[in-house]
Amino acid sequence: MTRKCIHSLAPGRINIIGEHTDYNDGYVLPVTIDRYVQVTVSERQGDSIRVFSEEEGTCEFDSQAISRSNNWCDYVKGICWVLKEEKAVLLPGMEIRISSTVPQGSGLSSSAALEVAVLVALDELLKLELSDQEKYTFARRAENDFVGVKCGVMDQFAAVMGKEKHAIFLDTQSMHHEYVPLDLGDYAFMVIDSGVRHSLSSGEYNRRREEANFALRGLGKTSYRDLTISELLTAKKKLKPEHYRRAMHIITENERVLDSVRSLKSSNFENLGRFLLQSHESLAYDYEVSCDEVDSIVSLLREESSVTGCRMMGGGFGGSVIAVCETDEIDAVSERVKNSYYESFGMNARVFLVRPDGKARILDTPHLVERREGL
Ligand code: GLA
Repeated sequence: MTRKCIHSLAPGRINIIGEHTDYNDGYVLPVTIDRYVQVTVSERQGDSIRVFSEEEGTCEFDSQAISRSNNWCDYVKGICWVLKEEKAVLLPGMEIRISSTVPQGSGLSSSAALEVAVLVALDELLKLELSDQEKYTFARRAENDFVGVKCGVMDQFAAVMGKEKHAIFLDTQSMHHEYVPLDLGDYAFMVIDSGVRHSLSSGEYNRRREEANFALRGLGKTSYRDLTISELLTAKKKLKPEHYRRAMHIITENERVLDSVRSLKSSNFENLGRFLLQSHESLAYDYEVSCDEVDSIVSLLREESSVTGCRMMGGGFGGSVIAVCETDEIDAVSERVKNSYYESFGMNARVFLVRPDGKARILDTPHLVERREGL
């Protein structure tokens, strides 16, 4: 008997703007990119699930008794767990092979790409016929309730719903989304990885979520979408200073997403850059999720006339900066930023050029995973 063997792939993402808004009923503007997690799943006899990751090594667990191991394998286990919880799926013994070109911990959403790649492969293998909504909801639940990171829906949504050459403008309150064409003309998105590694589950991320919630409840509201900036200003004295600043970030960041969508639609990349810079200030000072290394990359990029704007990207506490840069100048800018960064911190920054790409999918044959380093 030939055993079934399924290949799938899910993309990483950048987020143009809208950070720490997705768990606050806000707006986000992610783009799926040409960096992927690729998974091959095949059935095997018995109840055991064996996972081989090119980067991380191996792990093995019992499909009938899934418990957390507090390492990379929890993303795979979480997907198996959520299928049992949500769909009462009887999982067979399996072998799962993983390879990835999404750098980990850089804010490019490697964990959501892994979750979604595994989910899409299992959906096909077990003929579950999950809807797109089930896919991103289940993948998020795996991360929230199994891995323990209380993330919003942006990353899983992007991996399931991404569209080639488009950004996704998503309202995480109504879950209405719109694809915004990405024609960057003479510009490109550049990602500069600080090399400082975050771990979202380490607690700061979940703490920000609690603080944002606390501020909201302190103002007698149930959604940030019902809170205006003038209400927040009037109620300033009712809140602890840091809770006031958390709320200020969320309200102003939502406005910046709307402004950025307008700038993208009118190809005004100068303005888009300005909103990115304002977003960084807000994330660094009001939401307090940046760090010295990332702030210094932003400062270096601000000195470059070919960069219209930049900001920290993703959950924060390290990771990457996203910049809008004139395409012709990217090599020169990269060199200068990398050299100055090394002089200041003794660390190598990596620069990635990312191209917009589509959504998670089943592959007939596995792609050759191209190992690409930064510029
Ligand atoms: C991480 C989370 C997302 C989102 C961002 C910050 O990437 O997974 O849900 O909250 O941080 O915008």
